[in-house]
Amino acid sequence: MQSITAQLSASFRQAIQTALGVEADPLISVSQNPKFGDYQANAAMGLAKTLAQQTGQKTNPRQIAEQIIAKLELGEMAESVSIAGPGFINVKLSAGWMGQRLAQMLQSDRLGIDPVESPQKVVVDYSAPNIAKELHVGHLRSTIIGDALVRVLSFQGDEVIRQNHIGDWGTQFGMLIANLQDLSAQGTRIDLKDLESFYVQAKKRFEDDEDFQKRARQNVVKLQSGDPATLKDWQMLVHKTREHYQPIYQRLGVLLTPEDERGESFYNDMLAPVVADLKAAGLAEQSQGATAVFIDGPDKTPLIIEKSGGGYLYATTDLAALRYRTSTLHAQRVIYLVDARQSQHFQQVFATARKAGWIPAGVSLEHAAFGTMLGEDGRPFATRKGGTAKLKDLLDEAQQRAAAVVTNKSIDLSDEQKHQIAIAVGIGAVKYADLSKDRISDYVFSFDKMLSLDGNTAPYLQYAHARVRSIFRRAEERGIAYTPPSQIQLDSPHELALAQHLTRFGEVLELVSRELKPHHLCSYLYDLSTRFSGFFENCPVLQSDEPVRTSRLGLIDLTARTLSLGLDLLGIEHPPQM
Ligand code: ARG
Repeated sequence: MQSITAQLSASFRQAIQTALGVEADPLISVSQNPKFGDYQANAAMGLAKTLAQQTGQKTNPRQIAEQIIAKLELGEMAESVSIAGPGFINVKLSAGWMGQRLAQMLQSDRLGIDPVESPQKVVVDYSAPNIAKELHVGHLRSTIIGDALVRVLSFQGDEVIRQNHIGDWGTQFGMLIANLQDLSAQGTRIDLKDLESFYVQAKKRFEDDEDFQKRARQNVVKLQSGDPATLKDWQMLVHKTREHYQPIYQRLGVLLTPEDERGESFYNDMLAPVVADLKAAGLAEQSQGATAVFIDGPDKTPLIIEKSGGGYLYATTDLAALRYRTSTLHAQRVIYLVDARQSQHFQQVFATARKAGWIPAGVSLEHAAFGTMLGEDGRPFATRKGGTAKLKDLLDEAQQRAAAVVTNKSIDLSDEQKHQIAIAVGIGAVKYADLSKDRISDYVFSFDKMLSLDGNTAPYLQYAHARVRSIFRRAEERGIAYTPPSQIQLDSPHELALAQHLTRFGEVLELVSRELKPHHLCSYLYDLSTRFSGFFENCPVLQSDEPVRTSRLGLIDLTARTLSLGLDLLGIEHPPQM
């Protein structure tokens, strides 16, 4: 099914064409205030201006709106069309038409949402942990938001290529490998379980011990020249780190697998050509011994792509990766889920690649930046002792606290069921707390808030979903047979409010893919749950007589399926029973 916005757009476009003889975007939007109907077309004001310019005569936008309405053919769709203010056209949908549409949505696996007309090849760069370092809360946002976007874009029909740009290359590997060699020469069992202290140890020795420093530097040269023994040590470090983060991905229910990894090392051979090509194009120049691109002019911070004395940088790798993504992977959209503090870096990388002609026209490059996760004290999130918080500890605590909530609430479930629910609620709460905030802003991480049973939280939505499912379980117990109805009757204002919202699901997904902001989907699902509550408190379902009962069951069936698909797209579990 076409979205309602798309249908209205087409009809209004036609009416504008017939009435005024021009092609124009009718500017359809969802009405903010239900008093004014369900949808608005806002084009009359702009059209009046354009026509006035063309004819040299003053035109009244309300008159333009009237002319459009006179030619508008909405068939069964609208109950009324009216003009408000300077020339807004308001459309109120008819309850009969909406009820039919809902029934059609029930017939479809995709709830009546068409895939996009022109699917794109989209690269999503997310998570990107660093080797020999523990995954910390900073990577959490990238991983969670990135994964939700991957799910939404794929559902929309895009071909999504996940890229985990792990930090697996660079001079730090010299000291890490030297440390590894010493430990194994001493016969110490190399246990990288505590990656962080291994890293700290190597760093300290590099600073204190001249001989160690020399060997570390030699290792860098050996690694870069492809010495097999050094490569083997390097691979071991990568492998051990992956053993650490892959289970966390699994626990988070994130789609990333080792096949999605294309770490910095992958681009090693492409770095020299990147620098050479930028020089040849006259974009890069020598500056104090280093090679740099002055993309914003000579007095602005340059993008350094080769250090003085040789050696490439983070930016050089990103340039190579971007060129690879557009020329080899043929991405039409490249999305980076990276901390807002790297905004300038990405601006410069994008601008340089465009100037170099590596980005075909129409390809979009987007840094989906996010703010910092803060503790309840308003400072960057840390442990009570002030250290960086480990992700694993955070998830453990969320799960424990969720278990307490679940035990209080669901008395008649088995211990195993409760355990599974605690996992779904704990992990879901952490993910949802992040997804439900506009990613641009910093946000405060609070266990109490995210596990609260009322408010815009995962457990609230999970309970709402389980509650609807429980109505169907009760229906079955009472021997009430249900098959999705072919028409849903919408009489009470509570039914209408719920129905209107259900028809907008596809439009919200479009918004999420356009703005790369999953919080729109969260707000939508939260709003859906509160409208469901309003409906359920006021409209009896199982107690009603036919055909109302089946019609209402259809309405809540669609509600449950929308919640379930919505939570799936956010990567959040939703147990059928809680
Ligand atoms: N590994 C980097 C970090 O931890 C993030 C990499 C993000 N992706 C990219 N293409 N630069 O900060």
